[in-house]
Amino acid sequence: MPVHQDIIGRILVLRVDNPPVNALSKIERRGLIEGIARGASDDVDAIVLTGAGASFIAGADIREFGKPPEPPHLPEVVETIEASAKPVIAAIAGQALGGGLEVALACHYRLAEAGARFGLPETTLGIVPGAGGTQRLPRLIDPMLAADMVATGKSLDAASALRTGLIDWIADQPIDVAALGHARSLAGQPLDERRLSERNVEPSPDAIEDLALLKAETVKKSRGAIAPGVAIDLVAKALQSPYDVGVAEERARFLELRSGSQAAALRHIFFAEREAAKGPAEAPRSIERVGVIGAGTMGAGIAMSVADAGIPVVLVEQTEAALGAGLDRIARAYGEAVARNRLSNDVADERRNSITGATGYDLLANADLIIEAAFETMDVKDAIFKSLDAIARSDAILATNTSYLDIDAIAAVTSRPSQVLGLHYFSPANVMKLLEIVRGRETDPTVLATALAFARRTGKVPVVAGVCHGFIGNRMLRAYNREAGLLLLEGATPSQIDTALTDFGMAMGPFAVADLSGIDIGHKGRQAMEPGAYEPAAFRVHDGLVSCGFLGRKTAVGFYRYASGKVDGENADVADIVAAARKEFAVSPRSIDPEEIVERCIFAAAAEGLQIVKEGIAARPGDVDVVYVNGYGFPRHRGGPIFYLRETGEAGLAAIRRYAAGPFGRWWPDVGHPGAIEPPGIGKSTDKDAA
Ligand code: CAA
Repeated sequence: MPVHQDIIGRILVLRVDNPPVNALSKIERRGLIEGIARGASDDVDAIVLTGAGASFIAGADIREFGKPPEPPHLPEVVETIEASAKPVIAAIAGQALGGGLEVALACHYRLAEAGARFGLPETTLGIVPGAGGTQRLPRLIDPMLAADMVATGKSLDAASALRTGLIDWIADQPIDVAALGHARSLAGQPLDERRLSERNVEPSPDAIEDLALLKAETVKKSRGAIAPGVAIDLVAKALQSPYDVGVAEERARFLELRSGSQAAALRHIFFAEREAAKGPAEAPRSIERVGVIGAGTMGAGIAMSVADAGIPVVLVEQTEAALGAGLDRIARAYGEAVARNRLSNDVADERRNSITGATGYDLLANADLIIEAAFETMDVKDAIFKSLDAIARSDAILATNTSYLDIDAIAAVTSRPSQVLGLHYFSPANVMKLLEIVRGRETDPTVLATALAFARRTGKVPVVAGVCHGFIGNRMLRAYNREAGLLLLEGATPSQIDTALTDFGMAMGPFAVADLSGIDIGHKGRQAMEPGAYEPAAFRVHDGLVSCGFLGRKTAVGFYRYASGKVDGENADVADIVAAARKEFAVSPRSIDPEEIVERCIFAAAAEGLQIVKEGIAARPGDVDVVYVNGYGFPRHRGGPIFYLRETGEAGLAAIRRYAAGPFGRWWPDVGHPGAIEPPGIGKSTDKDAA
């Protein structure tokens, strides 16, 4: 039974039981209404509403969202709970999220375990709460906090929830026992007037003004995602309108957003991330001690990401000076986190102290996993892996953070190629969520399963890739940057291209990114590539800038000029370099519209992604989307490059065919044919049918 009913003494306990997270589908919604009706009988004095297992209710069942909604709807459930003449106490362990928090808000009292979390993450799924969340929360807690929670989807822990008035008690004994105790003490008492009169609040003009500011900031940050701004409007509505009016507006906006393309895209990426994190059936080994080789930006970031998950790290550098610089970098980063109130001093100290520096490999002898993040040449990797093979335990996993090099070749220098794989982090490694796990030809399934479990434990979004130059993400990026470079040659300026792509929702444009990471980095990378492996015309301007010493932000001049760390206009010298490149490649400039810029760059990444799936480097199109969304600033609300291409349908494929027939079209993989965007695992969505 999805909602169990148990009478204990004169208390009715309703327990939602829909593993793994007690999501509410129509069966649970019906069960809750039936349960409250059962509570009306004379043998019941009070009702406890709780969840089975580790979660209270993690929200509506997202899998139902693509289908026509079926009654009873959640608003009916929450109205029924609130209208109960018997006091209803929510007993919350684990997650009370989305519709789960709305159910808790409708209860007359809320009791929680110390580890519980409360949030309205609907905007992360492209929708807004649809059962009173935006109307009840600002009536219960500080409206600005409520607005922040609904706009960002951030959750509160139990201590904050108690402090802000979201919950009434934190249980100081097992939650079921505490819930029964509270229920008994409330039995027969009239319902607290305050709880029933919360519907009428006096609007505060200050809050309305602050909400307008928050909305302007949020819209700017959302890069085109609609739901966060709508959520703040609804909170403002709560402060200015009677409850019933606000709730009707909320429901209308919920239904509208739910059937929109952004919600479909965000649901796609939600499930794609979880699918990508699944690996072989083998049980993962436990990782309790980690070694990191290299204390540069990457190695230090990796060490912090591991330490942040409570796993001790040994960080190895060749010299005391390099090690000291790395440890200083880590100390500074933790110091900044404290200064920004992201971490307490104690937690920051604990994490920093769990990273031990060393200049030799001896302390790695006991590590379960060693991650190499040293210089990106095969000679360096060879030497390190030979040494690690000699010192590491025979069952230790050896990983390389290489971005491009052949992992099979690295594995081959060891006596244990089955224990070797790639862990490709993105910079800054303690912040960026993506982790490409690169399986070598001989990587053991248990090793892969262990890497996936380790990734999740350290808060990463893992995607498994096969071995090829650039794996999934950097290979797609190469195609994306190729088209950006060609567009420059064909007539667009760096800022036209960057603006078209940031207007589309990319976090940064390709030329701003090149300036940030250093134009010389890509230049060096190309020099190491086989001739013919990339389109020289696409990167001639980059190369020209490097020969002038314009390397990007670090020299204060690249595609743009920088003053005090901020963009201070385009670099006027780019025009001359572009003119020379046009001459060299016999390209006549023309006017290029933003639509072509977006199509060329995004479809190039998507087409490369489809090719990557076809070659088996990625298991499914969703994996490719997860990589580009989490590692390359692709707007999440557009679902990833392949999802976006799929949504454009035949028009997108026709565009790919057109570009493939263009002057530099030989680089486009052969994916512009009908059927290319319907590979297994990404069937046409029926989301638009949802009412
Ligand atoms: N609906 C359906 N399935 C869900 C779900 C949901 N709300 N939440 C989680 N799941 C599924 C996941 O898909 C996953 O399934 P598989 O094992 O088959 O892949 C499984 O539950 C476990 O999820 P996680 O791997 O994410 O587990 P976790 O322990 O890392 O995290 C969690 C648990 C914090 C609850 C996380 O799953 C989460 O954030 N879920 C989404 C919560 C959410 O957004 N709720 C709001 C929904 S919208 C809403 O509620 C509006 C409304 O009322 C109309």
